Amino acid sequence: MAAQLLHDLHKPYVFQWQPDASSRPEQSLAGTGEHHVLSLAELLVRKAPAELVVAQACAHTHPGTEADEAQVVNWLKAAAIIAGIDPVRHGLLDASGKTLPLPRRQEGFICHLGDHDFVLSAPAVQWTLPVMRDIAKADYKITDADLQGKPFNSLRNAVYSQLSAMRIEQAYAMGGGEQVRLPMHSVVKPA
Ligand SMILES: [Fe+2]
Ligand SMILES: [Fe+2]
Repeated sequence: MAAQLLHDLHKPYVFQWQPDASSRPEQSLAGTGEHHVLSLAELLVRKAPAELVVAQACAHTHPGTEADEAQVVNWLKAAAIIAGIDPVRHGLLDASGKTLPLPRRQEGFICHLGDHDFVLSAPAVQWTLPVMRDIAKADYKITDADLQGKPFNSLRNAVYSQLSAMRIEQAYAMGGGEQVRLPMHSVVKPA
């Protein structure tokens, strides 16, 4: 539960709002989104138990194959470097330094599966943005130029943050673009 709750701890920092109401582009670190490694480092600095840190490290992939486990090991090593600790002595890795502590615990697999909203939530954004742009122009008098900047970004942020992209996609899937109007209007009333 703790691994699941804390696993994206650093997203508010790496995705900081920009002046045009877009979010900062995330950099990669040790081959994954930087928020992942930084969240692990944060837990290490705060002296969280090793089994929690290892379970959380599995959010972005499971340690079920040699290649996948090698990635998790790298993220833990990178986090340990940032936090200034020895990953083996801290119980994050097996004595060899090449695998997770053995035998492998199952919490990491559960955390990985629990992190799977992205298979729908990420494409839901791509599929619903064009529909929201059309409604923004028709109902909110947002110009083509403003679709690329703060006016549309602010509208989009309000709708997605209060209802979620998945809920907008569900409305779109059930009733087409017309059905997206209602939830948008419920969050931001057109003038
Ligand atoms: Fe993540
Ligand atoms: Fe996540």
